Amino acid sequence: MEIKRLDAPFGCEVLGLDINSGVSKDDYLQVRAAFEAHSVVVIRGNPLSDETQIAFSEMFGPCEKTLKGNPAAGSVFARQSNLDIATGDRIPADDRRMFYQKANMLWHADSAFKPRASLCSILSARIIPSEGGATEVASTRLAYEALDTPTKAKIDPLIAEYSLVWSRGLIGYEFNDEERSTMHKVRHPLVRENPANKAKSMLIGAHAMNIRGWDQKEGLELLNYLLEHATQPEFCYSHNWQEGDVLIWDNRACVHRATPYNANAEKRLMQRTTIGDVSDEAFDREAVAA
Ligand code: OGA
Ligand code: MN
Repeated sequence: MEIKRLDAPFGCEVLGLDINSGVSKDDYLQVRAAFEAHSVVVIRGNPLSDETQIAFSEMFGPCEKTLKGNPAAGSVFARQSNLDIATGDRIPADDRRMFYQKANMLWHADSAFKPRASLCSILSARIIPSEGGATEVASTRLAYEALDTPTKAKIDPLIAEYSLVWSRGLIGYEFNDEERSTMHKVRHPLVRENPANKAKSMLIGAHAMNIRGWDQKEGLELLNYLLEHATQPEFCYSHNWQEGDVLIWDNRACVHRATPYNANAEKRLMQRTTIGDVSDEAFDREAVAA
């Protein structure tokens, strides 16, 4: 196995790993170290089955169950696709079932709105359109490093608030009252330190709706400023997919977004597993008490 820096501001590629034939503990530890160091890990030439994807994902930690709203709800997979899960036929672009795909085009960190934030996501390319449909990832670690000292000092102690009701509202999706009554906002530290290397990063993106204790207008102003800063080209990597690619991103240290493709003429199917961050700081105790 070999690990190479990507020709990008961050990220690395792992060569010579065959996930389908089983990943040894030693290989996992090398991939894990590369993940902690580089935030994004690309592994090409690995067309995974659901079983091998789950086995590999569980080496990183517990897989989240996918919530209602995604066609794969109830399983550990979040399905990003324009194909009907039952028939395999294309879903028209204006179909309500395509809403969650639209949400993916906003910069976000997966599961920031959950009481337990996510460590990482693992996305496996099953069917890829001939054009478009790249996934962009921005490093909130590089972006944090580039902030001036007073801004770092100002944001270091802040707790941010995150909500799925909020982020879905940004694309015009409204939950009904019953759904809303079960969906509370959660709180996480805005700035997190990676336990392996002490690098700091920011948990920002579409799910972030305010800073705890702040007026929402001011909170959003700061969050929008940080997101705009973080998603400048000098902190971004754009992944152009090939079938069989596996992409791992650190949800503690990155935001990402989907980009358009011709969903009326082409097919795209990606399967995502999302691994929970089991550390104490990643868990909002107040949300559970709510
Ligand atoms: C995701 C996601 C982007 C894409 O799976 O979490 O945001 O390009 N995917 O499908
Ligand atoms: Mn996502």
